[in-house]
Amino acid sequence: MLPLLCIALSLLPLASCVDLEVGDKESVCAAATLIIDGIMDYYEGTRYGGTVGMFQEPYYWWEAGEVFGGMLDTWYFCDNDTYEDIIYDAILAQRGTGNSFMPQNQSLTEGNDDQGFWAFVAMGAAERNFTNPPSDKPGWLALAQGCYNTMWARWETASCDGGLRWQIFTWNSGYNYKNTISNACLFNIAARLARYTGNDTYAETAKTIWTWITDVQFATLTDDSYSVYDGANVDNNCSTLESTRWMYNYATLMAGCAYMYNYTEEESWQTEVGRLFSGMSIFLTDNVLYERQCQTSKTCNNDQRSFRSIASRFLGATARLVPAYSDQIMEVIDDSATGAAASCSGGSDGHTCGMDWSAGDWDGVYGLGEQISALEVIQNTLVMSKPGPFDNSTGTSEGNVDEGLGYDSTSNPHKITVTGKDKAGAGVATVVALGIVIALGVWMIV
Ligand SMILES: *[C@@H]1O[C@H](CO)[C@@H](O)[C@H](O)[C@H]1NC(C)=O
Ligand SMILES: *[C@@H]1O[C@H](CO)[C@@H](O)[C@H](O)[C@H]1NC(C)=O
Ligand SMILES: *[C@@H]1O[C@H](CO)[C@@H](O)[C@H](O)[C@H]1NC(C)=O
Ligand SMILES: *[C@@H]1O[C@H](CO)[C@@H](O)[C@H](O)[C@H]1NC(C)=O
Ligand SMILES: *[C@@H]1O[C@H](CO)[C@@H](O)[C@H](O)[C@H]1NC(C)=O
Ligand SMILES: *[C@@H]1O[C@H](CO)[C@@H](O)[C@H](O)[C@H]1NC(C)=O
Ligand SMILES: *[C@@H]1O[C@H](CO)[C@@H](O)[C@H](O)[C@H]1NC(C)=O
Repeated sequence: MLPLLCIALSLLPLASCVDLEVGDKESVCAAATLIIDGIMDYYEGTRYGGTVGMFQEPYYWWEAGEVFGGMLDTWYFCDNDTYEDIIYDAILAQRGTGNSFMPQNQSLTEGNDDQGFWAFVAMGAAERNFTNPPSDKPGWLALAQGCYNTMWARWETASCDGGLRWQIFTWNSGYNYKNTISNACLFNIAARLARYTGNDTYAETAKTIWTWITDVQFATLTDDSYSVYDGANVDNNCSTLESTRWMYNYATLMAGCAYMYNYTEEESWQTEVGRLFSGMSIFLTDNVLYERQCQTSKTCNNDQRSFRSIASRFLGATARLVPAYSDQIMEVIDDSATGAAASCSGGSDGHTCGMDWSAGDWDGVYGLGEQISALEVIQNTLVMSKPGPFDNSTGTSEGNVDEGLGYDSTSNPHKITVTGKDKAGAGVATVVALGIVIALGVWMIV
């Protein structure tokens, strides 16, 4: 489907819009090229004085992780190494001194979920057999293990009988909240480490996390279909669920179950995949993905506008790993990709992507979130034509089971020592951040 504007423009010699033939590699990769052009408009790392691995304001550090994870898949799906150095440099620059994606200068923004999104980049690099760093630097697998070790050390049974808090650091607002995405990130990483390394300790952890998520009813089963809620406060022992439903929570959990199924071949994990996928039907109009919580009301914030990116990546991963659901999931990806491509017909370049994938044309909304979401859903139309994730028999990534262990005092966030000066600064920043959060609508808790 070509939007009318796109047809008209394509008659002009210079204009180029995203013209997609679903599943055709050449067409998909040409679309990806145009969309990444738009992504690079926001990239700081190649500008004078810019930080490698960061996008310009207002895009947070975590979203950079989401974007590099998407571009890494373009490298793989399209066999195109144009951005290899940029991705490679970004991962190494942001890995932090503890090799677990906790750069100290992000301690005012970084929550467990933020760390998790960078863990996905590292794990993805191992699973895509991405060009390895030299031996004096940690391997991609080791970086993912660094995230796993630091995150799992924060698992806390004192409240809610388990779970990770949203925030790592006590001074950040949201510290008293246990949210689904932080726990889904660790679940997903643990499942993937199990499959990649064959080490059952990771699978045991994944099982513990999944059991907790269902016990505490962040994922609530009704009629063979899950509803996944955002999280709950520790102050009343997680007894009141925050009821917003975001598609990335579903998809991150679903892919975790898919990896577990693919690794263990246990029927029960495939059943969970089916129940989560069935729950995701609330995010579809005519089989096209939309962010029901905020899209229709046009109230999605910058973070939320990117959620379909990671959701598309994990839909693709699930299709690849669980053959029983491949066809159904690919229909959603293909129909959504067609709609997304039609939305990429705006802006001064003629191929800026929009938010509404059902409009058949650009809806006037633009940003890094729209670009990366379109990129991931479009390139995942190729997921079945490529081999699935590498593991230790096919891949080449160096691991280190002890990476991140004992790093700083992150194994117990309560013990992190903050000097008086930092504390004051952090307090001010949090107040400022809170003001922004209140003004724009809170990032996940309403
Ligand atoms: C690789 O990607 C670059 C930039 O996105 C693009 O200019 C180039 O045409 C692509 N190469 C191939 C062979 O598709
Ligand atoms: C923050 O820390 C990272 C990693 O240690 C570093 O690459 C970056 O230059 C620092 N500065 C900014 C502004 O992000
Ligand atoms: C994986 O990466 C290694 C090292 O870069 C390379 O030699 C090998 O050919 C790659 N394997 C595949 C299947 O691409
Ligand atoms: C807190 O909730 C968990 C389950 O979610 C329950 O097992 C535990 O007994 C509760 N603790 C208190 C003090 O209510
Ligand atoms: C590779 O994975 C297999 C199982 O998938 C496991 O038995 C083996 O120990 C692993 N080897 C290494 C070197 O991690
Ligand atoms: C696991 O995933 C691979 C693709 O990576 C697929 O070929 C295989 O059939 C899957 N295994 C199971 C048990 O479904
Ligand atoms: C398996 O992973 C656990 C958890 O990181 C680690 O303690 C253990 O040494 C690993 N086992 C092997 C054989 O690598």
